[in-house]
Amino acid sequence: MKLFDVYPLFDVNIVKGQGCKVWDDKGQEYLDLYGGHAVISIGHSHPHYIKKVTEQLNKIGFYSNSVINKLQVELAERLGRISGYEDYQLFLINSGAEANENAMKLASFKNPTAGRILACEKAFHGRTSLAVEVTHNRKIVAPINDNHHVRFLPLNDIEPWVRELSRGGVAAVILEPIQGVGGIQMATPEFAQKLAYACKRYGAVLICDEIQCGYGRSGKFFAHQWLGIKPDIITVAKGIANGFPMGGVLISPEFEPVYGQLGTTFGGNHLACAAALAVLDIFEEEGLVENAHEVGDYLIEKIKQIDNPKIKEVRGRGLMIGIDLEVAHKEVRQPLIYQEHCFTGCAGTNVLRLLPPLCLTKAEADEFIEKFKKVL
Ligand SMILES: Cc1ncc(COP(=O)(O)O)c(C=O)c1O
Repeated sequence: MKLFDVYPLFDVNIVKGQGCKVWDDKGQEYLDLYGGHAVISIGHSHPHYIKKVTEQLNKIGFYSNSVINKLQVELAERLGRISGYEDYQLFLINSGAEANENAMKLASFKNPTAGRILACEKAFHGRTSLAVEVTHNRKIVAPINDNHHVRFLPLNDIEPWVRELSRGGVAAVILEPIQGVGGIQMATPEFAQKLAYACKRYGAVLICDEIQCGYGRSGKFFAHQWLGIKPDIITVAKGIANGFPMGGVLISPEFEPVYGQLGTTFGGNHLACAAALAVLDIFEEEGLVENAHEVGDYLIEKIKQIDNPKIKEVRGRGLMIGIDLEVAHKEVRQPLIYQEHCFTGCAGTNVLRLLPPLCLTKAEADEFIEKFKKVL
């Protein structure tokens, strides 16, 4: 059997990682400003993470969601405390798309007669059923997923959102506080607050997709916490367990759980919870949210200081940064990898996307700046 060839690959075989560095099979070191697509939050191969996951594996890796799992309870309590959502409820699954599927299902159960969802132009929410339907990319929506539930509206232009909400029949509004795939476009506080108010007024569930921008990356635990809003549902994944597949739905106390309404085989298993708890240990021990804020500000400022006509605009918060280029990103990204040995992400055709581990140091930020300047 061969692989189903859906990924255009870089010709690099990564075999080892440590902190913000990775190495290929030839021993070449790379600076990682990509974090395996915003997944590596605490850095690669953190010794505490390895210890905790190994200890758990030596006890039990998996059982089932039909018995008590105290690790899930501990994770819910600690996540509530660290994120400021102690009164919310946690449902655990295995990926970001699954988190959004379950969030929208909950919204639909709450608003059973409302069949519409509002989403943002340029949004990305995943590749499964309803998650892909609310993703603004026709190319990846299969005909069977195109069920006309969704209206895409412009970010930061509140009027059409209020108009659609006032027409009624909207079960949920789903919003990335900072768009990732969309090219690091940021919701403004004014837009987000008016949207949250309109959702309350017209009975729509407000879902914040924090899968990429959340979990400390923006320099606050959640990116919407910069905007002064409190969503009804928050979805997380990516950095939650530093690469162990895991997603979560944080659900406001206004939702009553119903036995059997949601469920999963693998979600919240012992090993995933041990990984997620180790991530929170390291967040607290090493102040990674604060580090993302401080080093992120530093890096954004340093990029802004580069005097080069190829840089059009720099956007972002914390360690979620978009560099809008006058040239195609591949003209910069490819030499960054092959000549300067530095991984970055991208969005659209012109945006270089930086999503490093949250433990990035200022020295590593400087190292990136030097490599980036050389390539420019
Ligand atoms: C904002 C956002 N939502 C949802 C997803 C989907 O997550 P997953 O690939 O884990 O299904 C992603 C993945 O890139 C994302 O960036």
